[in-house]
This record gives sequence, C-alpha cells and structure tokens, in this order.
Amino acid sequence: MGFNEMNYREINLLTAHNYEVELTGDRSPTLRILQMESMHNRRGAAAEAVYLYYEAMARYKSLVNQEERSEPLDVLSFGFGLGYNEILTVIFFLKNNWDLNQLRLFSQEKDLFLYDIFNDWLVSGADTGSIFDEVVLGIERAMLAMGEGVSKVALKENMKWMLNSKRWVQGGSVSSISDFASIYDVVFYDAFSSKVDDSLWTEEFLGGLFSQRLKQNFVFSTYACTGALKRIAAANSAQFVKREGYSGKRNASLVYRDR
Ligand SMILES: C[S@@+](CC[C@H](N)C(=O)[O-])C[C@H]1O[C@@H](n2cnc3c(N)ncnc32)[C@H](O)[C@@H]1O
Repeated sequence: MGFNEMNYREINLLTAHNYEVELTGDRSPTLRILQMESMHNRRGAAAEAVYLYYEAMARYKSLVNQEERSEPLDVLSFGFGLGYNEILTVIFFLKNNWDLNQLRLFSQEKDLFLYDIFNDWLVSGADTGSIFDEVVLGIERAMLAMGEGVSKVALKENMKWMLNSKRWVQGGSVSSISDFASIYDVVFYDAFSSKVDDSLWTEEFLGGLFSQRLKQNFVFSTYACTGALKRIAAANSAQFVKREGYSGKRNASLVYRDR
C-alpha cells in the first residue's frame, strides 16, 4: 500500500493535529509531526518495537520468576505515540500466561490527543479501518517471524479492562522526575531524541530516574546508546548492554540490575 492509499479513519484528525502518517518498511505505520523526526525506524516500526521493547520484557522475565512474585509489576512506557509498546506489554503478559492483575502500566505522553484516538479504537466494534488495526497487524507480522500469533480481540478487551480498572494510567508530559507516578520494574525509554528534547537525555534527568524511580531488579530499554547512560548504569550497579540498533540503525541499549 502506498502513502496515498492510507485511508485510516483517524486521518483527518491526525492531519488537523499536524501529524503525517508514514508507512515503514514492514508496512506498519508511524507518525511524524511538523517535519520533525519520525516516531519509529523507517525500516519497520513494529519490528523495531518488538526488537527493543518486547525483548526487554523477555529479559525481565529471565531476571525474575514471575510465579513467585506477589508484588505488582510496574512498567513505564515513556512516549506513548501510537501505543506499540503498551500493546506489546499486554501481549507479553497474555503469551506468558502472566496475571494481568499484577501489571501496572504507566504511559507518559505529552500529546493527550494520541490517547483519545487510541481509546476510541479500543471501544470501537470495527476491526479494520483504524491506524491501530495496522499497528496490531504490523506487530502480528513481526511476531509471526518469531513464531508467535496474537489475538486482537483478546488484546483490545484486556487493554480496555486495564484502562477501566486503572491498572493502566495514561499520564501526561514529563519534565521532572516528580512527574513519574511510580517506582518501576521495566522502563521503555522512547521519548524523542536529544536532538528534539535535550532535557530528557541529560545526566541529571536520567540519573534521577535511575536513582529514584527504579526497583531493585529492573530492565531499562531504549533505542539510543549514550555515554551518560553508560555512566549512570555503572553508578547504579547495573549492567549496561550495548545492542545493535534495529536494522543497522545506530546502537541501542539495555540496562538491567539483578541482585
Ligand atoms: C518516539 S515517539 C514514541 C513512540 C511510541 N513509543 C510508540 O510505540 O508508538 C515519542 C513520543 O514521546 C512524546 N513525548 C515527547 N516528549 C515528551 C515528554 N516530555 N513527556 C511525555 N511525552 C513526550 C511525543 O509526543 C511522542 O508521542
């Protein structure tokens, strides 16, 4: 499907909010606002999200034995965008038969309009025509490549339940550490890059996040790899793993602590 054929039912709303929709190399959609950077890798939004964030959940699983956990698992998804990472988190729980009662999912997104269109999709009965149907299809294709299927009906029902029961909190813009609502086990750090917003990548901000907002065992995943992050990992007794970027992109990183 070419760009002009993208006829999602949200397209007029997105355009009115200055978003352009782009189809990435794996046919999953991404957004770009006002000529700024795209939200995802041009070669595959869904495949990149699976690579960076679904795999972070898998790393977390290997750190802990969920069967023995009695405490909730707090996941921070910084930068909601099109919701790829929230969808992947719920899929991870469903696939591993983890109890969704145990999940507390905290999204942070400065453009609350993005939650509005996602939440409309969650309650809509239609199962095609939305940009989010294409997000899920993209994830399904990326996961099929890993030999895993996804049920969209179960996914939507569970996400709706998470939202209604306040296990999923859709938070707003973050500009200081006190804007974070919890202490987290898993962090998807997917706000824009330092080119767009330097304040989220300073040693001071990231250092505060690590020292004040992470649990004893944690996994932190991001598409970037910076010297500041490496120093902060060391200062917080955490392991720093430099990863290949998705599809030849610059390096990504995964930081975890297991003790
Ligand atoms: C790279 S996109 C996130 C993509 C998203 N994770 C997804 O799966 O579609 C970055 C998002 O971070 C949001 N954002 C940027 N700065 C923010 C801030 N200070 N607080 C909260 N959200 C922010 C942007 O509005 C944008 O939606």
